[in-house]
Amino acid sequence: MRILSGIQPSGTIHLGNYFAMMKPAIEMQNEAETFLFIADLHALTVLPDPEVLQERIFNVAVDFLACGLDPEKTVFFRHSAIPEITELTWILDCVTPLGLLERCHSYKDKVARGIKPNHGLFAYPVLMAADILLYKSTVVPVGKDQKQHVEVARDIAQRFNNRYGEILVLPQEKIRDDVAIVPGTDGQKMSKSYGNTIEIFGNEKKIRKKFMSIVTDSKGLDDPKDPEKCPVFALYKLFADEKQLKEMADKYRAGGYGYGHAKQELFEIFVEYFRDFQKRRDELAADRGYVESILEKGAAKARIVAEQTICEVRKAIGLNT
Ligand code: TRP
Repeated sequence: MRILSGIQPSGTIHLGNYFAMMKPAIEMQNEAETFLFIADLHALTVLPDPEVLQERIFNVAVDFLACGLDPEKTVFFRHSAIPEITELTWILDCVTPLGLLERCHSYKDKVARGIKPNHGLFAYPVLMAADILLYKSTVVPVGKDQKQHVEVARDIAQRFNNRYGEILVLPQEKIRDDVAIVPGTDGQKMSKSYGNTIEIFGNEKKIRKKFMSIVTDSKGLDDPKDPEKCPVFALYKLFADEKQLKEMADKYRAGGYGYGHAKQELFEIFVEYFRDFQKRRDELAADRGYVESILEKGAAKARIVAEQTICEVRKAIGLNT
C-alpha cells in the first residue's frame, strides 16, 4: 500500500483547510507509506505571479511542517523537483482520448464560469494521473471535487496497460467525506470564495476580530440559547473535549451566558490548540535553508521510485530498449 496526495499551493491556510484537508493529510503518515507533494506544476495553469508562487510554495511547506508533518515518515516534496513527471505526462497524453478530458466536471465548470481555458487547464487531469501513476500509488485521499480526476487516472492506467502490458498500478480514491464541517464567520461552509475564513496563523489581534465577528442570532444575554444552532459552538466542537463541550452547552441552555462569552472561550481554546504550531512555524519560516533541505531530501526519495517506473515505461513503449 502506498498513499499519495497532492496539495495546491493556494495561499493562507484557514480553519476550513486545516480540519478538512491538512490534519487528515498529516495523519496519513501513521497509516502507511505516504507521499505528499506540493502541486506547483498544477498551479501554473492560472499563470501566477512568479514571486507569489514561490512564496506560496514555501508557505505551504512551512504550514505542513509546523502542524506536525514528519518528514521522516512522509515523503514530502515539490512536484516540479521530479523531471520524470513531465515525461510520463506526455506518454500518458498519447493514450488519453480527448473525450475523457472533455467530460471532466472541473474543466467544464471553469469554462462555464467564463475562464478562457489554456491547454494546461484542459490537460490537468493527465498531469494528475502522472503524479499518481509515477509512484505506483494505491490509495489517493482527495476531497469530493477530485474524485473524477482519480477515476480518470485509473482509466488512463488501464488504457496504458491494455496497450503495453501490466506496468502501471490502478489507484483507488479515498474520499474524505467523514471530515469535520467547518462553518465560516457567516455560518456557511468556510471557504475563501465566500470571504468568511478564519486564518490559523498570523496576527492574534486580527484573528480575534474574526472570531468576534461570527454571526449569531439576536438573543440577549439572559436568554437561553440553542448550542446546536450556533456556528460559535460548531467551531468550539473542533477543539474541545467532551467535558468542555458539555459545559459550554449547559451554559448556552441556562441563559445568562452571551455569544460574546462563547466567542472569547472559542478564541482561547483556538490559541491554545495552535500555540506550539505557531511557535514552530515562526522558527521554520526564519530558516529557509532547513525547509528547502527537507523538500530536497523528500524529492530525492521520490525520485528513486520515479526513475524505476519511468524506466519500465520507456522499455514497454519501445524507447530506450
Ligand atoms: N488536483 C488536486 C487539487 O486540486 C491536487 C493534486 C494534484 C492531487 N495532483 C494530485 C491530489 C495527485 C491527489 C493526487 O486538490
